[in-house]
Amino acid sequence: MSAVGIVAAAGSGSRLGADRPKALVELAGRPLVAWAVDTLLAGGVGEVVVVVPAAEREAFAAVLPGGVRLVDGGATRTASVRAGLAAAGTAADAVLVHDAARPLTPPDVVARVLAALAAGAPAVVPVLPVVDTTVVVDAAGTVTEAVPRGPLRRVQTPQGFHRAVLVAAYAALDDAAELTDDAAVVRADGIPVATVAGDERAAKVTVAHDLRIAEVLAAVPLGSS
Ligand code: CTP
Ligand code: MG
Repeated sequence: MSAVGIVAAAGSGSRLGADRPKALVELAGRPLVAWAVDTLLAGGVGEVVVVVPAAEREAFAAVLPGGVRLVDGGATRTASVRAGLAAAGTAADAVLVHDAARPLTPPDVVARVLAALAAGAPAVVPVLPVVDTTVVVDAAGTVTEAVPRGPLRRVQTPQGFHRAVLVAAYAALDDAAELTDDAAVVRADGIPVATVAGDERAAKVTVAHDLRIAEVLAAVPLGSS
């Protein structure tokens, strides 16, 4: 099945606190966004649209392969993906939405998402189990209950969708809505979301500690971590 990738890269990275947008921060000498684009292409996506901060188009173009299309993002991730989707065209059967902030995602994860879509799932997300004891606290920080973690999952990207399903879900979503991922957008439209195995290497770079971990992992060949 043909797939177009949308890389959400229009955030500022306020929690990382670097001197440039997070997606342009380098990991092992290459910007995070370049890693994310390569993962999608290596995993079987045919073309990629990258959503960037409007003021940084040239800087992104300078570090990405020529075939990649750039689109101006919005104030929220939801608005940015909406812009990417509008630019993604109608040729592909599937859309994979990926965070630039997950640079070390193995191409195998992309392949698993594509396989689930090809097998008929309208929407699919890579997930990992929750391994820590997980609790709810009250306003004072006192534990009020422990959450049974067996059914809990941490959700990663790329998230895959039959294109028409994602387009319809975004069309049905209020313009001002702000959801943290795209699976939430299709679930709001009543679409079931399937899961495939994620990968610890697909962890999101959010704070400086995450980037230090990623630097260590980037030096470890795939398959040995
Ligand atoms: N993103 C986006 N457009 C926005 C906000 C976020 O495309 N308006 C993208 C980011 O570039 C990132 C992904 O969504 O690849 C996940 O968001 P997050 O990790 O929160 O990145 P930032 O919003 O850049 O970071 P922060 O929240 O710390 O400012
Ligand atoms: Mg953010």
